[in-house]
This record gives sequence, structure tokens and C-alpha cells, in this order.
Amino acid sequence: MKDSISRRKFIGRSIGISTGALVLPSAEAFGMQVKSGSTIPLIITSHANDTGRKALEEGWKILAAGGSAVTAVETAANIIELDPEDTSVGYGGLPNEKGVVQLDASFMDGRTYSAGAVACLENIKTPSSVARLVMQRTNHVLLTGAGALEFAKAWGFREENLLTEKARKIWLRWKEEMSAIDDWGPPEHLKDQQKLESWWQDFPEIEHHYGTTNVLAIDKNGDIAGCTTTSGLSFKLNGRVGDSPIIGAGLYVDNEVGAAAATGRGEDVIKSCASYFMVLRMKDGRSPQQACEDALHMITDRYKKVNPDYFPSEKFVAINKYGETGCASMKGSVNPQMSVMTGRGYTKYEGTIAFPGK
Ligand code: GLY
Repeated sequence: MKDSISRRKFIGRSIGISTGALVLPSAEAFGMQVKSGSTIPLIITSHANDTGRKALEEGWKILAAGGSAVTAVETAANIIELDPEDTSVGYGGLPNEKGVVQLDASFMDGRTYSAGAVACLENIKTPSSVARLVMQRTNHVLLTGAGALEFAKAWGFREENLLTEKARKIWLRWKEEMSAIDDWGPPEHLKDQQKLESWWQDFPEIEHHYGTTNVLAIDKNGDIAGCTTTSGLSFKLNGRVGDSPIIGAGLYVDNEVGAAAATGRGEDVIKSCASYFMVLRMKDGRSPQQACEDALHMITDRYKKVNPDYFPSEKFVAINKYGETGCASMKGSVNPQMSVMTGRGYTKYEGTIAFPGK
């Protein structure tokens, strides 16, 4: 999710979206029990752009061939991570304040409650795959920094520079524009902000966001898996870890109930254990859509006493074991969307805004 939080004049950019239908094998072909309006197998991503659609098409091929939710989720997540144009996830993600791309990702298998995650992982393009290996090939849940990199290299991942030219130029521009009292930027920086901006006019706009993606899937056996992967808050402090690799915060999956995941301001998602909360709400009979909305209200309720005007920027997605879906964002002028692929084809699900006008 892109979130524009300007220091001077940083404007988040929205992504152009196209829709369309793709005819694929139906859920009934798999002999699945489905609730009216829902269908399984199913795969969703919070990315509602063309890359999100491409990711789901590839993930769906795994599910349609009878493959596991875990593999479908990893396949789809990798496509988003490898997109160099996406400045919020994997390769091409915006760096931290030092210009270093540090990635966070988590994976969870709802059949076994197994989970794996990596945080502050550098130089590896597909952190979700490393998180899957932590889940399946270790007795731990979370590896960080140098240890996560060592583990990835032991499994044959190649170290690569993740900082694309686009991301580097956005970072440099941020350095120059972030303060009038440092030494970044030409001398006229101090006197003439317009001159600085005109020098940068051919470079990409500054993006400053908590961009992340979630992928959740149910396979033909009814097994559920999920992944959350991100480059995290752009220009974050070196070593900062967001919600994405924290099980229960950025992701939670339970075969008996469903799955939920978060994008947005990770600090608030961690403090509220939002994904676990959403799964508990669904366990109590709430629909995925209601569970997403409940979690956003729960977060703002917490702030009521200290800062009633605080509406952190978050977008939540959820599915239940019947294949019903939900998506909600905290605020904004446009309803949040997510990509959904089932036997009925590709659709874009439109969610709700919990606090319109905020
Ligand atoms: N939700 C992504 C982050 O805060 O890092």
C-alpha cells in the first residue's frame, strides 16, 4: 500500500489498474464445498495492480494443478518481489536512511501453524522464499540481518544489489529535500527551494510509504497459507523491523478459520497484533470483511485516550476457510482494492474505508 506522508512536498503516486476476466477451472471441478458467493481454491493479494494480477495468474496455475497453498503463495509473492518497478517490495524497494535496502518477510502454513520469517535481510531479491525455508527447514521462526543472509546463502541464494537506479535517485532526492540544515543538496538549497526542485524535475517523484504485499491462498485440500513481504517503511532507521515479519502482526494463518494480513504503518500493527486479532474475530463468526474493519476500529480505539485524531494508514486483507474475502483501509478517498483469483477467474475486490474523510 502506498502512503504519502510528506516532509516537504512528497506526493504518493497511485497505480493505474485494469480489470478483466480469465476463464479457469471451477472450484466445483475440484469437488470443493463452497459457500454461496465464495469459492476455493482461491488466491488473493493486496496488490491490485498489473503485477498483482500476474502474480495471481502464476499462483493459480499451481493451485489449478492441485499444488499446495504454500507453493502457490511463494510463486505469487516472488513475482511481486522481483518487479524492479515496485518500490515497496523486494528488488527495487526503497532503501533505509543509509541507502541500504533491508527486506522483511514472513510465511505461515495454516495446516501445521508452522511459521518462518526474515527481518532486515540484505542483498536477496526474494525474502519470502527465505522465510519459507526458515519455516520448513529450521526449528526457529525469525532470523534477522547477517544471520538471515548467512542462512539464505547456505541455501544457495545469490547476493545481488537490490538498489535500482530508480530507488537510488528517490533516496538521494529524499536526502537533499529532507532538511534545510544539513549538507545534502547544492548551496542554493538553503536559499532557493524551487531551484532544487527544478534540478530534480526529471527524476521520479519522492515516494515515502509503508508499501508491502500480502498473498493468501487456499488449496484444493482446504489448506491455507500466507506470506507478507516488504521493503518496509522507506528511509527507515537502519535496523528497523516492521510488522511484516512478525507472526500475528503482519500475518496470521489458521486452517480452522482463515488467514489475515496487513500493510501500512507497521508500528501500529505490531502493537495491536492485528492479523491475529482478525483471525480471532473470524473464529467468533465475523466475516473476513467485518474482521478487517473490526481490527481498524480496535487500533483507533486504543488511541482514543491519548490522541483521538490519530488514524494511522493501514490496509488489511482477510480470507476465511470458505473462500470468503475481505479488505479494508483506515482512511483515504478511494476504496481499497485487492486482487482475487478463483476458478471463476480474476476479479478485483473492492473493500471499505473504516474512517472516510480522515
Ligand atoms: N507494513 C510494513 C512496514 O511497516 O514495514
